[in-house]
Amino acid sequence: MKLVFATHNENKFREVKALLPNHLELLSLNDIGCHDEIPETAETIEENAILKVEFVNRHYGFNCFADDTGLEIKALNGAPGVYSARYAGDAKSSTANMEKVLEELKDEEDRSARFKTAIALSMDGHQNMFLGICEGVILKEPRGDGGFGYDPIFQPDGFDQSFAEMTLTQKSDIGHRGKAMRQLIEYLSLNNS
Ligand code: IMP
Repeated sequence: MKLVFATHNENKFREVKALLPNHLELLSLNDIGCHDEIPETAETIEENAILKVEFVNRHYGFNCFADDTGLEIKALNGAPGVYSARYAGDAKSSTANMEKVLEELKDEEDRSARFKTAIALSMDGHQNMFLGICEGVILKEPRGDGGFGYDPIFQPDGFDQSFAEMTLTQKSDIGHRGKAMRQLIEYLSLNNS
């Protein structure tokens, strides 16, 4: 079955493709000729994920899922949250975003944070939502050069490595996107036998 993952992010596409069973032919937005930047104008990550699948349904007619992820930092009242990509400005620079977070937390004792992924699925006219959460802390400085986004400054609870020091498999096993994806996969397996 062909299924579109509504993303232009090659890193995420690779992470997710590695988790999906082979009978699903995963297509990216580029694969279906969608080169538009899909508007992410909602105020929650759940609504942003829904906006993306509705865009693909309306314009391309494919079964589709989309994810939206935010880093929620307790001492910053949940920021950057839905604004994670552009926290330090429209350039969407991961380095600038991390620097901004580190500066804002420099006098904070409580460095607890969590990643939250929402996956919206629209398949054969039905919509579903899957959530994955990974709790952790924000490190004092970046560590590691794997992953993307805020990975170098996020250390999941129970581990002494940052996400950027883990392999893709380790991160998927315990991470927010992996947790939400496994729920999606279970749903797809049960509904496509
Ligand atoms: P998106 O909604 O998945 O595009 O994520 C929004 C922003 O959150 C991205 O631009 C990244 O800065 C950050 N982000 C998303 N997922 C991750 C992750 O797994 N690790 C680190 N940062 C992430």
